[in-house]
Amino acid sequence: MAGNSNKIAIIDGDGIGPEIMTEAKKLIALFLPEYTLVNVDLGGKAIDKFDNPFPEESQEKLKDVDAVLMSAIGAPKYDNLPRDKRPETGLLALRKFLGAFANIRPAFVFDALVDLSTLKPEVVKGVDLVVVRELTGGIYFGEPSLNDGERALNTMVYTKPEVERIARVAFDAAMKRNKRLCSVDKSNVLNVSQLWRDVVIEVSKDYPEVELSYMYIDNAAMQLIRNPKQFDVVVTGNLFGDILSDESSMLTGSIGLLPSASVGGEIGLFEPVHGSAPDIAGQGLANPMAMILSLAMMLRFSLNKEKEADIIENAVKEVLNKGILTPDLGGKANTKEIGEAIFECCAKEFEKA
Ligand code: IPM
Ligand code: MG
Repeated sequence: MAGNSNKIAIIDGDGIGPEIMTEAKKLIALFLPEYTLVNVDLGGKAIDKFDNPFPEESQEKLKDVDAVLMSAIGAPKYDNLPRDKRPETGLLALRKFLGAFANIRPAFVFDALVDLSTLKPEVVKGVDLVVVRELTGGIYFGEPSLNDGERALNTMVYTKPEVERIARVAFDAAMKRNKRLCSVDKSNVLNVSQLWRDVVIEVSKDYPEVELSYMYIDNAAMQLIRNPKQFDVVVTGNLFGDILSDESSMLTGSIGLLPSASVGGEIGLFEPVHGSAPDIAGQGLANPMAMILSLAMMLRFSLNKEKEADIIENAVKEVLNKGILTPDLGGKANTKEIGEAIFECCAKEFEKA
């Protein structure tokens, strides 16, 4: 069973996916030589092979891995498929399959890159926040859900246990950081948000050291660009979290820098926040940093390798400070050059440690 099979599932995905995964794999070879990599098809590749974005065969392979590392999926050629056949549906099914209900999306502004943000440097310098997004419930999965051509609907549902468990993940994250948690909802309008808020308040009693605040989603969207430094940990539902995590990624100037972890089930899923960027695929333009930082999150959250995770995160900082940058960051380096620069820093540090 998961936990000590010394296997990692690799979903190298579509678009820029394989290119950025190649760079992450070099670091896996360095830090995890004892692990076997299991290639798993999801999204476009799975549709091409099996006519199914998350086929049985992929599900089987995932049953005895310790963690899943994924790049990104999706391509324009699948845009006209029915919804249940699209790459995105495979991703949603994967999250549900893994029980990965807690999606952790950090957004931090590297000092070397403050000028890259579309916001003023004084607004973004020092931003360091985490969005904890509920990932397997809410309007993404609620029933009934239908579209008969005349009338369409989705249902936003949360149960008390679902809110309680994501709230605990968020409070625990806050305890390890600056002990501030902001819960985002729309409880002035939505029943589901009223329950959400009540449950978060109840859970807060177990975390007296954490300063809890609340915000409506519209205000939170505004506050994130007005004064992002007011946030430490943000906890919210699936749809609101989808939106706020894209918004917070832009504080940093490039979505190509941000990793994510989806945890809560037995097997964690680690993937960059960005998509498969088909427009730049195959040209060596993609920034592999978010992919590599997702690997660092995997080492930290699933494989208990804190030291190695630190080495990777520091190596990324070092490469940024040296000004070795891909075009999304205003530089000229290609995917492979970034991967190699990070690898060299890691190898040096790893030898010393
Ligand atoms: C994300 C993406 C997905 C989501 C899509 C691709 C289904 O936007 O990971 O944020 O909405 O969860
Ligand atoms: Mg999204």
